[in-house]
Amino acid sequence: MAMVCLSDFEAYAKKYLPKIAWDFFAAGADDCSTRDENILAYKRIHFRPRMLRDVSMMDIRTKLLGTEISFPVGIAPTGFHQLAWPDGEKSTARAARAMNTCYIASTYSTCTLEEISAAAPGGFQWFQLYIHRNRAVSQSLVQRAEALGFQGLVLTADLPYTGKRRDDIRNGFRLPPHMKLKNLEGAFEVCKMSLLDPSVTWNDIYWLRSLTHLPIIIKGILTKEDAELAVRHGVQGIIVSNHGGRQLDGGPATIDALVEVVEAVQGRVEIYLDGGIRKGSDVLKALALGARCVFIGRPALWGLAYKGEEGLQDVLRILQDEFRLSMALAGCASVSEIGRHLVQFSKL
Ligand code: FNR
Repeated sequence: MAMVCLSDFEAYAKKYLPKIAWDFFAAGADDCSTRDENILAYKRIHFRPRMLRDVSMMDIRTKLLGTEISFPVGIAPTGFHQLAWPDGEKSTARAARAMNTCYIASTYSTCTLEEISAAAPGGFQWFQLYIHRNRAVSQSLVQRAEALGFQGLVLTADLPYTGKRRDDIRNGFRLPPHMKLKNLEGAFEVCKMSLLDPSVTWNDIYWLRSLTHLPIIIKGILTKEDAELAVRHGVQGIIVSNHGGRQLDGGPATIDALVEVVEAVQGRVEIYLDGGIRKGSDVLKALALGARCVFIGRPALWGLAYKGEEGLQDVLRILQDEFRLSMALAGCASVSEIGRHLVQFSKL
């Protein structure tokens, strides 16, 4: 089967993954309207392409908090990569390093932070944190990540409780006995999401700040009010995200929320986005509307399910080629030329 676009990897994963794993990856909350809206919203945005602009030499590199990546797509934090491929997050880390991009490793990884870091020495990695009721456990994770050379701390803000994902309930989803939430081993009985701390507030950013020198990036912001609070609490980056539609159903598509966040922040911190990125032209639209970089969640899992590290590299390479082509066809030779003029945003 020729793998031409990300949907081909989705079809493969759906066909070959055990149903319980496929359903877990695909799940959205409730009736999945926000999950689906993340994708549909891109179809409502149209380009204003420019012609005759010498696109013979293309520069698609960008920088995240000062670190260069090969193109503006990184890997969003998702849990349980061993459900997709036996080597799990180690393969993810290797693929991200091979493609010279950023990998955000989840608290709910099935490999330890040490294993992830050792699998891709010198790779550009951020660590994603869920704050647990046992603060000592969260503190030690942050400090382990910093000591291992992770370069950023991503605090996920949209999961005080886990959203209601119907198929997971129907399937009685739980990790197979041979897989563990290795970063939390010993700390908790695994897979008990109820140990998340729902009392987290903005003040906890100050607590995190006291634990680490790493830049703090907050993930899950959808409004200008929260964007303003994030900047005031001293974060270095914001990921506009609705958790792939897995939390509150009925919220906005992330590409629609991006506009108000960008307007509120006015360039004071970097803004990224995840949710529904499936084509290179989606990446271009997100950058045109003010994102510095986007992250992929499910497509990375499909790549792993296809062929592990190699499959994820294929996914990233296809997205990279599509992005470069979309840029060229829109008349941009470098990412610095991408701006709002490229989309008909009045119709958003
Ligand atoms: C996620 N997401 C997520 N986010 C996070 O901060 N920590 C996590 O452990 C997870 N785990 C997770 C598992 C699975 C199976 C999915 C699909 C998603 C959310 C993820 O980081 C990201 O926000 C979305 O996946 C982006 O949407 P797309 O690219 O999947 O459409």
